[in-house]
Amino acid sequence: MEYRQLKEIEIYPLRDLSYDFLGIHFENPFILAAAPSTDNLTMVHRAFEMGWAGAILKTTSVEGTRVDLAYPMMSTFDHEGRKLFGMGNIDLISEHHIDTVEYNVRMLKKEFPEKMVAASIMAGRKEDWQSLVERLEKAGADLIECSFSCPQGNIGEDPGKMLAQSVSATELTARWVKEAAKKIPVSIKITPHVTDIVEVARAVKRSGCDALTASNSIQALMGIDIRSFAPYPSLGGKSTYSGMTGPAIKPITLRTIAEIARNVDIPILGTGGASTWSDAVEFMAVGAGVVEFCTVVMHYGFRVIDDLKSGMSHYLDEMKFSSPAAIVGKALPNIVMHDDLPRRTVRSHINEKLCIACDLCYIACRDGGHMAIDQQPSRVPDVDRERCVGCGLCQHVCPVDGCIEMQVAV
Ligand SMILES: Cc1cc2nc3c(=O)[nH]c(=O)nc-3n(C[C@H](O)[C@H](O)[C@H](O)COP(=O)(O)O)c2cc1C
Repeated sequence: MEYRQLKEIEIYPLRDLSYDFLGIHFENPFILAAAPSTDNLTMVHRAFEMGWAGAILKTTSVEGTRVDLAYPMMSTFDHEGRKLFGMGNIDLISEHHIDTVEYNVRMLKKEFPEKMVAASIMAGRKEDWQSLVERLEKAGADLIECSFSCPQGNIGEDPGKMLAQSVSATELTARWVKEAAKKIPVSIKITPHVTDIVEVARAVKRSGCDALTASNSIQALMGIDIRSFAPYPSLGGKSTYSGMTGPAIKPITLRTIAEIARNVDIPILGTGGASTWSDAVEFMAVGAGVVEFCTVVMHYGFRVIDDLKSGMSHYLDEMKFSSPAAIVGKALPNIVMHDDLPRRTVRSHINEKLCIACDLCYIACRDGGHMAIDQQPSRVPDVDRERCVGCGLCQHVCPVDGCIEMQVAV
């Protein structure tokens, strides 16, 4: 057997990715979201050494708070062979109370003064919210993120209802938190599970809090075993709704961030479905100032930071942007209401040179479009320009990039 020397993979030369956001200096726009990866000092330490710009330590609470975890807590939404297209968890907040997290913040700031060290908090009573803020500020945290959106959370006696699902409770609690923070910025982590995300964002803005983290996981039922009828993740045949994260929720997060950014003037930390540097660019283009990552790290490890930094460096050079901050909001002017969309006549055009005659466009158009694609003896399909309305379905089922384009009809 012949062994060949693997060529060293070329990594695009890194450039300066640093900028300021919320009055904090970020080495790059990539930070770790509150999750198992940030619940352990050694792990965050390793992530910082590998190049992550910051971390939100997993949500903590006051001493004495009961955190009653149930295992197994993970399940996945695998799609057409892709593992963890969505990931479900029934995790709760950290089992480490504020005393441990205070210590972790101190240690991390001592060793990595240039990194952004934030902590996430959750409480019920005003005095507990405020004491968490005060203690973390004293410990040296750069930012506090308040979880108003744990999918397993509840407001008082209302099980399953998240704080951020009530506009009035959001505003009141956010005021308590902001009142206690002397200098550091506070971000409220919200849920997309509301009728009007803008109302929630306005409530946070009115409270005086500095930012929003948009947005937490999506409540989901991850699947059912069709023989035992046990839902996933099955705990002796029983389960509950999961918080779904990962690539499957990215479009929901993009819409949430965009809708806030178009209507409320408040800085946004983006989270929910970002896995790559280009996902981060998309999050920033609709208004996120920095991007938090969780599922991709749980799947592939902290090392994904290398790709994130190198991809972002290449992109900024290509686009001639001076800093990641230049991306923020770039796509917002292009998001309009349906009434304001340009009305043009477009038609499908199939590039015969690229067509592999798989018939997917023909079948999709025949059974889901306008019966405008005909099969040819050569098997390269032909678009009937009279029947084609330009819906775009064929372009999206085509497996060959660039083979089908929607062209403006003249
Ligand atoms: C296992 C697990 C535990 C999590 N725990 C917390 C938490 O304690 N507090 C919190 O605010 N978010 C928590 N999250 C949500 C993440 O911070 C993040 O917002 C979410 O996973 C979406 O980002 P992603 O698609 O990059 O994973 C958790 C997510 C996972 C997967």
